[in-house]
Amino acid sequence: MKALVLSGGAGTRLRPITHTSAKQLVPVANKAVLFYGLESLAEAGITEVGMIVGDTAAEIEEAVGDGSRFGLKVTYIPQERPLGLAHAVLIAREFLGDDDFVMYLGDNFIVGGITGLVEEFRAHRPDAQILLTRVADPRSFGVAELDASGQVIGLEEKPRHPKSDLALVGVYLFTPVVHEAVRAIEPSWRGELEITHAIQHLIDARADVRCTVIEGYWKDTGNVGDMLEVNRAVLEGMERRIDGEVDSASECIGRVVLEPGARIERSRVVGPVVIGAGTVVSDSYVGPFTSIAENCRITDSELEFSIVLRDSSILGVGRIEASLIGRHVEVTPAPSVPSAHRLVLGDHSKVQIHS
Ligand code: TTP
Repeated sequence: MKALVLSGGAGTRLRPITHTSAKQLVPVANKAVLFYGLESLAEAGITEVGMIVGDTAAEIEEAVGDGSRFGLKVTYIPQERPLGLAHAVLIAREFLGDDDFVMYLGDNFIVGGITGLVEEFRAHRPDAQILLTRVADPRSFGVAELDASGQVIGLEEKPRHPKSDLALVGVYLFTPVVHEAVRAIEPSWRGELEITHAIQHLIDARADVRCTVIEGYWKDTGNVGDMLEVNRAVLEGMERRIDGEVDSASECIGRVVLEPGARIERSRVVGPVVIGAGTVVSDSYVGPFTSIAENCRITDSELEFSIVLRDSSILGVGRIEASLIGRHVEVTPAPSVPSAHRLVLGDHSKVQIHS
């Protein structure tokens, strides 16, 4: 069995972070979200991975390499534009050959891995198996309709009037019959070859399409709110580990991970929190559910429920909450006179100012 991991896409919902960086590489508890997926594929006994890449190919290749670090063998498959999930299957035809495969969306996060699912699929080998989970607002997902016996009878992409609250999770299992289906469908109104249409095609052709409703935790990390929530969930499961330095005027309370070379000075850190190598926190408060990557400076500030990417500084700005801060960002106070905000913001930045 092989895997097809989708790491292309536009990532419009995570702008401006995705103007300069692949969304699959945004860190959750200081580790790229994509790496959790690759680890779960390796755990499920899969070794051969086809990686769909787009504009951010160089960055993904640099981070993942040949995959050996994860126990995987990665083949890169360039996609000229994000033309849809079924388009990714279409262009991976040669790589996939006549093998069964797992399709895994590189920005999705599934707690508990996929080993059980892969085993179930191998045991019964239906034509396709999809995963579903209940969501509060299904309108931004692929949504499944089931009959009374729990059989999938229809799928709709981002429906205005959803027929159920069962959303498609970003992991799909297929036998080679899917190749005929992705060739048969036409692009949708948004110009993409939709995997939901390909699966609907299989259902219409009376193929055996099964579904598993997962109760566990799943998130599409497509937007900032979801990113922060996944980060919170992962930090929640961490053990305390202090490999950096904490001075005698500081306190690290609860599950705090301090990487080697990180320093806490005259500060209070309340876990769960992870602080990357080389980062210095001084005269500050870092509160629960915060991940700070490597080589950052947090000085005379308060930070909670946030993600800070590497090489950024937050200096003397009071309290920051529920924020996603990119790489090499500087947040500093303005001079007291004139009383004005001074901003240098990239395209599609979002700033909320307390006035
Ligand atoms: P999406 O989140 O559906 O799309 P996107 O990355 O373009 O994001 P946005 O909606 O914010 O603009 O994609 C799910 C995953 O699949 C994600 O990891 C990107 C990847 N993908 C591809 O590799 N190729 C594609 O053609 C598409 C549509 C997505």
